[in-house]
Amino acid sequence: MSTKDLIAEARAAAANAHAPYSGFHVGAVAIAADGSHYAGANVENVAYGSTICAEGSAIAAAVTAGVKKLDSIVVTCLDVEEAFYPCGNCRQLMAEFGVERVIVDGPDGPVEHTLAEILPFAFGMRDN
Ligand code: THU
Repeated sequence: MSTKDLIAEARAAAANAHAPYSGFHVGAVAIAADGSHYAGANVENVAYGSTICAEGSAIAAAVTAGVKKLDSIVVTCLDVEEAFYPCGNCRQLMAEFGVERVIVDGPDGPVEHTLAEILPFAFGMRDN
């Protein structure tokens, strides 16, 4: 699937977000090395801290399907002009499942980063 198609899939997921509190409709697609892909949207809660981010939803969908090694993840938000970068918690979730590339949707098109670039010195078992 092309990056363009993956972003379209992330946007479609974002349109289904439950975001009555922030108004940020976020979508993500987690992609495995074999090309299989899993979409997610943010799911907010009146108890704000119970909110699930779009990336977490997408990663949970992948794991639910039995996929525990991910290659990349695409992230988009329908309600901001600038590129939408994943929060720190989501970057750590990505590290758990071996995400290597993070593609953020922006006004000038997709921007690609390595996870190591946006999560340097990641916490891992070697630190325990
Ligand atoms: N959000 C995500 O879905 N992913 C992120 O990486 C950061 C934030 C959501 C959570 C909440 O529903 C809204 O964006 C505003 O924080």
